[in-house]
Amino acid sequence: MRAVIVDEPGGVESLDVVEVDDPVAGPGEVVIDVAAVGVNRADLLQRQGRYDPPPGASRILGLECSGTVAAVGDGVERWTVGTQVCALLSGGGYAEKVAVPEGQVAAVPAGVDLVEAGGVVEVAATVWSNVFMVAGLQPAETLLVHGGAGGVGTMAVQLAHALGARVAITAGSTRKLDACRELGADIAINYHDQDFVRELRSATDGHGADVILDNMGAQYLTRNVAALAPNGRLVVIGLQGGTKGELDLGVLLGK
Ligand SMILES: NC(=O)c1ccc[n+]([C@@H]2O[C@H](COP(=O)([O-])OP(=O)(O)OC[C@H]3O[C@@H](n4cnc5c(N)ncnc54)[C@H](OP(=O)(O)O)[C@@H]3O)[C@@H](O)[C@H]2O)c1
Repeated sequence: MRAVIVDEPGGVESLDVVEVDDPVAGPGEVVIDVAAVGVNRADLLQRQGRYDPPPGASRILGLECSGTVAAVGDGVERWTVGTQVCALLSGGGYAEKVAVPEGQVAAVPAGVDLVEAGGVVEVAATVWSNVFMVAGLQPAETLLVHGGAGGVGTMAVQLAHALGARVAITAGSTRKLDACRELGADIAINYHDQDFVRELRSATDGHGADVILDNMGAQYLTRNVAALAPNGRLVVIGLQGGTKGELDLGVLLGK
């Protein structure tokens, strides 16, 4: 089969289409005939050599896909050949076929076409696990999503809005602020020329954010803690603004 690998990290020219052996379904695995793959920021970082795949993962890029089950390994009970599915992968999606543990496979949701399903699982799993399972966002609470117009951000806005939470976002242009409002954001802040701490406080009568989904890391640490409501939860899932920040424990104690 054909697959996309990165021989030397770099720009798009470092992507190579190569012939490799077809994957075989091991025990507990299914092989998917790939219809579509999502392109995530993590793929771009991996291509640039700035994000190592987990140990033992495929050298083929691609962290999510959709397609049709082509084979099932021993012990697989949930999936049968011919079912349309989507899957979260540790790698290997940029290929004609991929083998994946059955627990990482999901049915294509009703109303979602097969190609669109190839770009749903990674962001949905990221938002669900971080905003709802880790931070426990509740319907009456306020969520601040940094990068609300990005892949993860747009999913966070829609899920939190559907749950009934109040949603604030930051984004970098008027067009993106408007797009986030259309998806359900109640408070939209341009990170280039507005102070998100001040804007959020003013829009929430001084309360702040009960949960913050942060992609910036160090660059926003001080302001994120300032923007948190009492008993607020800050979940850092990206380090676009660096890894090392300074935390004022006095401010944290006040929360
Ligand atoms: N830990 C995990 O499980 C996990 C999983 C998936 C993703 N991630 C991380 O989550 C983040 C988003 O991923 P993605 O795939 O959604 O990437 P993406 O679509 O490329 O989105 C990146 C976002 O960063 C925003 N941004 C850039 N500078 C900013 C700033 N100064 N303040 C606020 N936002 C800023 C961009 O906003 P504008 O476009 O408006 O400028 C854009 O929305 C990345 O850091 C990624 O590594 C983590």
